[in-house]
Amino acid sequence: MSKDITILAIETSCDETAASVIMNGYKILSNVVVSQIESHKRFGGVVPEVASRHHVEAITQVIEQALKDAELEPSDLTAVAVTEGPGLIGALLIGINAAKAFAFVHDLPLIPVHHIAGHIYAAQLEKPLEFPLISLVVSGGHTELIYMKDHMSFEIIGETRDDAVGEAFDKVARVIDLPYPGGPHIDHLAQSGKDTFNFPRGLMKEETFDFSFSGLKSAVINKLHNCKQKGIEVNKSDVAASFQTSVSDVLTAKTFAALEKYDVKNLIIAGGVAGNSELRSRFTSMCNDKNINLQIPELKFCTDNAAMIGAAAYHLYEKNHLADLTLNGRNFIDIEEYAF
Ligand code: KG4
Ligand code: ZN
Repeated sequence: MSKDITILAIETSCDETAASVIMNGYKILSNVVVSQIESHKRFGGVVPEVASRHHVEAITQVIEQALKDAELEPSDLTAVAVTEGPGLIGALLIGINAAKAFAFVHDLPLIPVHHIAGHIYAAQLEKPLEFPLISLVVSGGHTELIYMKDHMSFEIIGETRDDAVGEAFDKVARVIDLPYPGGPHIDHLAQSGKDTFNFPRGLMKEETFDFSFSGLKSAVINKLHNCKQKGIEVNKSDVAASFQTSVSDVLTAKTFAALEKYDVKNLIIAGGVAGNSELRSRFTSMCNDKNINLQIPELKFCTDNAAMIGAAAYHLYEKNHLADLTLNGRNFIDIEEYAF
């Protein structure tokens, strides 16, 4: 009988301090996430130095809680996994140093994980991935279409040329006076609005799988500015709905074009913006119509968490991709470099 692989995973790449215990890459024994959002709200975005300080304060307790919730002792673990990057360097280093210390003290292997691989593998917490697949990664820092022919094999087939989609959500939210992070607030407000502004759909007609959201962001800002100058009151729900529909049109069009070109029937939507209700419902109905096997992680596994890091780490462990105690954080790592 093969032995269970039980991994303690740690994630501190941005503004969530998270630890989780995952068995065999999918079974969640615990999942602890401490969010710093309240602290960053007053600055309208994540302040890296503030993020690092909060991680330092929280990390030990978060790890202890993850073990306690899983009802396990360190000696029950097979390995420790941690996000190596990309992310805020100071924030990453808190998780990495905690993971290294834990691995050293308990004599456990250390698994370095790419944050975006983690977002994609969040889908595995629900059911096993089927290949080949395409993943649309939409988060605060990333917008990419990634082709995977097998586990831990990543080919970027399209990416944003400017802003990440989550970044555009957050900036547009800010100009209509919504709190940080703006994505969920735009999502909510859009439900009572209509696409009346017909904002641009960046690169939608071009023969590329790349994205561009800065033109859309500027169009929203300019529209609001013009209306203000003319004393015209804008309906914020309509702004939110128009922006969100423009984003959804582009993301769905590019993704289905990529599925067709690569002749792929499996799709994963990953990252914080995958929590968006319009995106979820449009992708769900389009995938039904087109017979595409769609996996979108449960809401709480779309935004940053450590369970997804544990899910990806399982395959890295199987492939013996381990780090030693010289492991360092990296604020940028090309995911294609992370193919094993
Ligand atoms: O993946 P994530 O938690 O962190 C990064 O790795 O960046 O993504 C955070 C991003 C933020 O920009 C946030 O506004 C956006 O995801 N987001 C949403 C929604 N929930 C979170 N955007 C649109 N609609 C949502 N429901
Ligand atoms: Zn993330």
